[in-house]
Amino acid sequence: MAMPAFIKDLAQHEGTEVSLKGWVNNIRSSGKIAFIELRDGTGYVQAVAVLDSIGTECADAIRALSQETSVAVTGKVSKHPKRANEYELQLTGVSAYQISEEYPLSKKAHGPDFLLENRHLWLRSKRQWAIQKIRNTAINAIYEFLNGENFTKIDCPIITSTACEGTTTLFDFEYFDLGKAYLSQSGQLYLEAAIFAHGRCFDFGPVFRAEKSKTKKHLTEFWMMDAEMAYVEHAQNMEIQERMIKFVFKAVLEKHQAELKMLERDTVPLQRVIDKPFVKMTHAQAVELLRSLGSEITPDLDLGANDERLLAQAYDVPVFIEKWPVKIKAFYMKRDPSDPDLVLGSDLMATEGFGEICGGSQREDDYRLLLSRMEGEHLNIEAFRWYLDLRKYGSVPHSGFGIGLERLVNWLTGAEHIRETIPFPRMITRFYP
Ligand code: 4AD
Ligand code: MG
Repeated sequence: MAMPAFIKDLAQHEGTEVSLKGWVNNIRSSGKIAFIELRDGTGYVQAVAVLDSIGTECADAIRALSQETSVAVTGKVSKHPKRANEYELQLTGVSAYQISEEYPLSKKAHGPDFLLENRHLWLRSKRQWAIQKIRNTAINAIYEFLNGENFTKIDCPIITSTACEGTTTLFDFEYFDLGKAYLSQSGQLYLEAAIFAHGRCFDFGPVFRAEKSKTKKHLTEFWMMDAEMAYVEHAQNMEIQERMIKFVFKAVLEKHQAELKMLERDTVPLQRVIDKPFVKMTHAQAVELLRSLGSEITPDLDLGANDERLLAQAYDVPVFIEKWPVKIKAFYMKRDPSDPDLVLGSDLMATEGFGEICGGSQREDDYRLLLSRMEGEHLNIEAFRWYLDLRKYGSVPHSGFGIGLERLVNWLTGAEHIRETIPFPRMITRFYP
């Protein structure tokens, strides 16, 4: 009896007969010998059949196969004749579940619109498969890191009554008789409540931004991990982010050499992220540097796409830009005690131009200062009453950050566009499929 197996485990079955269930990724035949590339979700394997020596029934079944046909096969596992550490299958039996109709995604190159329109099928392609495997490992590595640092996962609401990251990118809708509700931009404010019970908390889920920008780095729905920590101040906040990024990169490099190769991802810059310390500079220093490199950025501006590119050319390690002007950062950020025009916030910039990966800050923990900042920004104080309460009952210095999962996966995989890093991307011009 053939032993049921997964493709990723075939090395353990060398010399024995196994059965696999999967799909025909590709098939070619010389007339005498058929080569079928199979995939089962765990990996890819080449199955070989000499057609006139495996019996007519099996040979006929093989001739009927088409790309994407779902199959159960049996075969003997042997070393690949050419590629070290790879295995192939000498087929002994094939039965189809469903013979696939002509598959719309052929091997030839398709344009991005066609691929996005067929995202439900595109997910099956090798590159897309490799990207999702790496995404999965990045998610698990983030959980593993945070569990090791005494964080408790707190699930924050998606339907919210207030804006976390300003009103310009809010999705709103009527909530029964209660007026406007909003899709969450970040769970941060709710985590700030939860740290008073749990010390260190995180959430990990979808967030929404009605971003009008059509760039390679923006989605309208993306996954964010927000972390929030009581008794952690600005410098330590950055230190934890750096360790977390290095931890995730290590996990991906350890587990996914094969997938990174499929993606033709140069791993040298990834290894450097693990090996070298990140750079820190203030926003003012960044402005000075960027201007010297030809940028027209001014001291009261956020970095633009061109600035991100210049920074990535100047440094081959990630860069924290800290101490931002109060005016261009969110209301909840704590003022720098040594300069009231600045906040203790940081943006972490990826290498190679993959842009801002993490946004974080120490939070304003003084009731009066926070209230005056919110009033200055004309926020609806009544809607934030609960948030202000947190500064009344045992307020503490605290900090946190949010990491955009798709930006992180984009960086790790070197994907062309952020839309490839999420299974079903939502952008201003698309929500199908
Ligand atoms: O910098 P942001 O807006 O920070 C916050 O939302 C804070 N409340 C987080 C916190 O302190 N807990 O967003 C955090 C990260 C960005 O650095 C970026 O990686 C990602 O989320 N991000 C996006 N990713 C894809 N598409 C978009 N439209 C994104 N906007 C932000
Ligand atoms: Mg940001």
